[in-house]
Amino acid sequence: MNLNAWNKVLMVAAFAVLAVGGCDKLGGGKGKGSGSAGSGGTGAAPQTGTIVIGHYASLTGSEATFGVSTDHGVILAMEERNAAGGVKGRQIELKTLDDASKSSEAGNVVQRLISEDHVVALIGEVASGSSLAGGKVAQQFGVPMISPSSTNKKVTEGRDMVSRVCFVDEFQGYVVAKFAKDQKLDKVAVLFDQAAPYSKGLAETFKSELEGLGGTITTSQAYTAGDADVSAQLQSIKTSGAQAVFLPGYYTDVGNIVNQARKLGVTVPFLGGDGWDSSKLAEIGGAAIEGSYYSNHYSFDEARPEVKEFVAKFEKRWGETPDGLAALGYDAAHVLFVAMEKSPSLGGKDLAATIAATKDFPGVTGKITLDANRDAQKQAVVVQMKGGKPRYVATVVPKGWPEPSPVAPAAGSGSGSATK
Ligand code: PHE
Repeated sequence: MNLNAWNKVLMVAAFAVLAVGGCDKLGGGKGKGSGSAGSGGTGAAPQTGTIVIGHYASLTGSEATFGVSTDHGVILAMEERNAAGGVKGRQIELKTLDDASKSSEAGNVVQRLISEDHVVALIGEVASGSSLAGGKVAQQFGVPMISPSSTNKKVTEGRDMVSRVCFVDEFQGYVVAKFAKDQKLDKVAVLFDQAAPYSKGLAETFKSELEGLGGTITTSQAYTAGDADVSAQLQSIKTSGAQAVFLPGYYTDVGNIVNQARKLGVTVPFLGGDGWDSSKLAEIGGAAIEGSYYSNHYSFDEARPEVKEFVAKFEKRWGETPDGLAALGYDAAHVLFVAMEKSPSLGGKDLAATIAATKDFPGVTGKITLDANRDAQKQAVVVQMKGGKPRYVATVVPKGWPEPSPVAPAAGSGSGSATK
C-alpha cells in the first residue's frame, strides 16, 4: 500500500470510530489508526503508536482479589517491558475491564475490549466459568487470549485462539489426592459448588485420583456459590466418617463454609485447590481455616531464586505480598510480550500460533511450555494455613517427572522454619 492509500484508510477509520462511538472510544491507544471495527479487531492491527492489550477480570464482587491481584501482576510485567523498550519498538498499553466476578458479564466485557478498544490480545480470566464465556467471544473474533490461571480442561478445548500458562485440574486433583494419601487421610468427603465448572471438575478428578490411590470418598455433597446455609451437607459429612473434607471452592464460600463446619463440630482438616488463594481467606475463615491445606501454583515462601526476585519486586511496587494470581498474571503477560515480539505480525492468527509455540519460558510459577492443547505442564505446591498465612509445605510434580530436589523454604518464613 502506498502512503496515500494508507492515509485514506487512517482517515476513514478515524471517521468511523468518531461516528460510531464518540471521543471516549478513542482512548484505547494513542496514535493508532484502528480500522478494525467491522472486522473483529484482528485484521487491521495498527502499525504505529502504543499496542493495546486487554485484561478482563473480577475487580469487584465475590472473587475481587483474583482480578485485582492478577491486574497488579500484569501491570508490573508491562512496566518492566515498557522500560526495556516495549514490543517491536512500541510501548504497551493495558486496558482492564471489570466483569464483577460474574461469568455472565465476562463475554460482554471481552466484546467491548475487542470492538471498542481494539486490543491485539487478551489476558483473562481467573475463574474457569468466566474464561469459558470470555474465550467463546475471543475465539469468535479471532483475538488471542491467555488465561493466567483457569484450570478447567474445557477452557482451551477446541479454541485455537485460547491458551493458558497454568496446569489443568486433571493434575491438580491428583496433587491434592496424593497429598491426602501421603498424610494418611484415606477417607475424604467432598463438598463442591455444583454451578461452577472449576469446582465440579476438580471434585471429579480428585475423586477418581483418590480412589485410584486406594482411598475412599465417604460422601459427595453439593452447594451453590453464595449459599448462606450448608448445614445439611455438613451434617452428612460429619456422620460419614471422613478424615478430611475436600472443598474445591472460591475463597469467600470456603471461608464461610469452614466457619459453619467448625460450629457444627466438624473438626477434621479441610483440603482445597487454588480457588482458596486469597488474602481474604484468613480474614473470612479466621481460626476455622487454620491448619487446612490447599494446592497452588506457587508460594511466596519458596526458595527458588525466581520467586525471591519476583516477591521483592512486587512488594516494592504494590506494598503487598504477591499471591498465586499475581505471579500467574505476571507470567501470562511476559509470555504474551515474548510472543508479540517474536510473532511475524500482531494479527490474531500469527500471534495465537506464536503463543501456542511457547517453550521453556522461565516463569515465576515454573517453566512454561505449552502442549498441543495449549495448556502448561507444571509443578504445583501444597500450602498450609498457619497464623493466617499460606505456608509452603511441599512441591508435587506431574506423574513421570523426576522428583523435585528438596528445597528449603525461604529463610525465616517457611513451614520448615517453624513457628510463625
Ligand atoms: N483455577 C481456578 C479456576 O479455574 C481459578 C484460580 C486460580 C483461583 C488460581 C485462585 C488461584 O476457576
